[in-house]
Amino acid sequence: MNEVKMVFFLKPDAVIRRYVGARTLKTLLDKVDGIEFLTFLKIEPEKDFLANQHYVEHKGKFFFDWLVDFTTVAPIYFMMIKATPEKIEETRRILGPTLVQKAAEEAPESIRGRYGIYGGVNVAHASDSEKSAIRESNIWEQYLLNVYGSKLYEKSPENIRKDIERYVSQYIDYPIIDNLRYIELSVRLEKNPSLRTEIKQKFIELLAKETSEDFLRSPNKVVEKLAEILVKNALLRK
Ligand code: TYD
Ligand code: MG
Repeated sequence: MNEVKMVFFLKPDAVIRRYVGARTLKTLLDKVDGIEFLTFLKIEPEKDFLANQHYVEHKGKFFFDWLVDFTTVAPIYFMMIKATPEKIEETRRILGPTLVQKAAEEAPESIRGRYGIYGGVNVAHASDSEKSAIRESNIWEQYLLNVYGSKLYEKSPENIRKDIERYVSQYIDYPIIDNLRYIELSVRLEKNPSLRTEIKQKFIELLAKETSEDFLRSPNKVVEKLAEILVKNALLRK
């Protein structure tokens, strides 16, 4: 029988906010008993793949275009994890409910409750059932095999775990801004869209405190672009 793999990735908010990404990975390592990673890759997936494959079930929804833009605003860290239905459920429980306000209220100890920014800016993706784990791992495997060929599975799970531990130790002592700040600003903006420019500037300032030099100096202006995504997120109309 083929083993089931689930897909997990740090979304751009958790990659730019260095502590948040490190804490999320450390939580998986510490809390999911016997977790085994089969890949750990920094990637920049194409919009076409996200829109027509990974997120295809959401096509036509009010947040769809925004979601694809958000997921491509900065690199993501992509993992495939050896899965069982129990591990999928446990990982989803640790991650928490989809929308950040709901996560903060109903599961304040969850990753999304603690570290999510607002709405769908929610730290990480995880396959939500055995069925979606199979679908997602198949399409991502096809997509990544095209890019990496046989190198995709070249590293042993032990060495992948070491890569993840190295990532955690590199970023775990970065500063963190309380996610309530991002929530408060998003709510203010939602109520008063004319504050757009001012609040975007504030988002840039907060993100700059949490990120690393490479992102601050990047010619793609990822911090500014993420701030614009946060603005659009607060102004998304259902
Ligand atoms: P979904 O698959 O429903 O959530 P999950 O990530 O918990 O499996 O939706 C995919 C992403 O779409 C979600 O992580 C964030 C975004 N999204 C919104 O921005 N607004 C929404 O109302 C919903 C349902 C999702
Ligand atoms: Mg989902």
